[in-house]
Amino acid sequence: MDNKEKADIGLIGLAVMGENLALNMESKGYRVSVYNRTAPGEEGIVGRFIEGRGKGKNFIGAYSINDLVESVKTPRKIMMMVKAGSPVDELITQLVPYLSPGDVIIDGGNSDFHDTERRVKELESKGFYFVGTGISGGEIGALHGPSIMPGGSPAAWPLVKNILQAIAAKLDDGTPCCQWIGPGGAGHFVKTVHNGIEYGDMQLISEAYSLLKNRIGLDNESLAHVFDDWNKGELDSYLIGITADILRYKEKDTYLLDNILDVAGQKGTGKWSAIAAMDENDPLTLITEAVYARMLSAMQNERKKAAELYPSGGIQDEFIITAEEIRQALYASKLISYAQGFSLLRRASGHYGWELDYGTIAMIWRKGCIIRSVFLQKITDAYGKHPNLENLLFDDFFRSKILATLPAWRKSVAEGIMSGIALPAMSSALSYFDGLKTLHSAANLIQAQRDYFGAHTYERVDWERGKFFHTNWTGEGGKTVSGSYNV
Ligand code: 6PG
Repeated sequence: MDNKEKADIGLIGLAVMGENLALNMESKGYRVSVYNRTAPGEEGIVGRFIEGRGKGKNFIGAYSINDLVESVKTPRKIMMMVKAGSPVDELITQLVPYLSPGDVIIDGGNSDFHDTERRVKELESKGFYFVGTGISGGEIGALHGPSIMPGGSPAAWPLVKNILQAIAAKLDDGTPCCQWIGPGGAGHFVKTVHNGIEYGDMQLISEAYSLLKNRIGLDNESLAHVFDDWNKGELDSYLIGITADILRYKEKDTYLLDNILDVAGQKGTGKWSAIAAMDENDPLTLITEAVYARMLSAMQNERKKAAELYPSGGIQDEFIITAEEIRQALYASKLISYAQGFSLLRRASGHYGWELDYGTIAMIWRKGCIIRSVFLQKITDAYGKHPNLENLLFDDFFRSKILATLPAWRKSVAEGIMSGIALPAMSSALSYFDGLKTLHSAANLIQAQRDYFGAHTYERVDWERGKFFHTNWTGEGGKTVSGSYNV
C-alpha cells in the first residue's frame, strides 16, 4: 500500500465505544484502519462495519493484526478499545512483533492505572510509546465528542495530540476537553477519580430522589419537574438532566423507573477510587460510601430478610422538609465530594510525581463526560487563584456555599436519620465536614487506648510534635514501647 493511502490511525475493538470513536475520527478528516479481535473477517464484525456504518467513508478494513499495522502510516498510532485487564496485555503482545520503534499504542479503555504505569515502562523499554487515556461520555460522547484524559509516554503526546483533540468535546470558546494529564498512569488515574465522582454524584441524586419521593411524596412527573428546575441553576449538569428524562420515561402507561430492580451494578472503577484513597491515606468518604451503597443494594436477599425483621414504622413524622432544602443538601454534599476527589488527585500526584494540573482537569470535565456540569468551572477558578490549594473547601466560593447551605444540609440528613431513610453519601459528607473543622477531636482517646493496650505511644499537646510518650497505665506494663511508625 502506498504511504499516501495508508491510514492516519488504527483502531482495534469495534464494540460500541470503538465503533463510535472510529466514526468520530473519520468525520474529522482522518483515515482510520479498523480491526476487531473476534470475528475480524469480511463476513464478520470488521466487514459488517465497513459495509454498514462505515460505508462510503474513509476507512480501511483490516482482517488481521499484520494487515492493521501495515495499513497505518509511521510512526504508527494504534488505539485499543478493548476490555480492561488481560485482553489489553494479550493485544499488546500480539501487536509488538509488527511494530517499528517510535510507534504509539493508545489504550482508551477503563484500565487500572497500575497496569498503565507498568505498560508504559515495558513498551518504552522496547522503543515504543504507550498512552493510557481515559475517555468519558458513553457511546454518544464517543461519537460526538468525549472528554479525553491522556497520560503515559510524554514523547507520544505531540504525535497523538491533534487527533485526540479533534475528536474531543469542545468548550464554548473552542478549547478541546482533552489535554495532556501527565506521565505513567496519570491519565487512567484521573479517569478513575472521574468515575468515582460519577458514583458519588449518582448516589447523591438517588438520595435526593429518595427524600423527595418518600418524605415529600412527589410522584414521578413532579419529581421530573423538580430535577428540570434544578438543572437550570447551580446544579446544571448532565446527570441531573438525564434524571428528569428517566423519571418521565414511560413504557405504555407505566413509568419504566418503577419497574427497574433496585440492585446497582458496577464495573470496578468506583471501587478503584476507594482503594486508591486507602492507599494514599486520603479520606474519600463520600465516593467510598457510594460504592458501599451499590454493594448493599446488591444484597437483595439480606435486604428482604431485614425488611421483614425490621418493618418501617414508629418513625417520627412531624419533620417538614422542602425540595429546596434537599437541593441545598445535594449541592453541599457535592462540594464535599469534589473536594475529596481533588484531594485524592493531589495526594496521588505527589506520590507518583505526575504534577497534575487540577484546574485543567476540571476544565476537561466541563463538557463531553458523564460528570459534566457548570459547577466544574468553579473548581478551575479556584485552582486558577491558588494552584496549590490544599483543599477546595478553603476556597472562598466553596466556603460561602457551604456556609449558606449548611442548615438545609443538616436538616436533610436529620430528616433521613429520623425517618429511617438511608443517606450514606449526604451524611458521610456532613461527618467529613464536621470532622475536618473540629479543632480538638476525640482522637486523643484513640491514642490513649492504643498506648494503654499496646504501648503504641502518643504525642502531647504540651510538647512539640514528633516527641512520643508512653505511660505505664496499669502499673503492670514495662518500659518497652511499640514502634511509633505509621502506615
Ligand atoms: C464514562 C463512564 C464509563 C463507565 C461506565 C460503567 O465516563 O463514560 O464512567 O466509563 O465505566 O459507565 O460504570 P459502572 O458500571 O462502574 O457504573
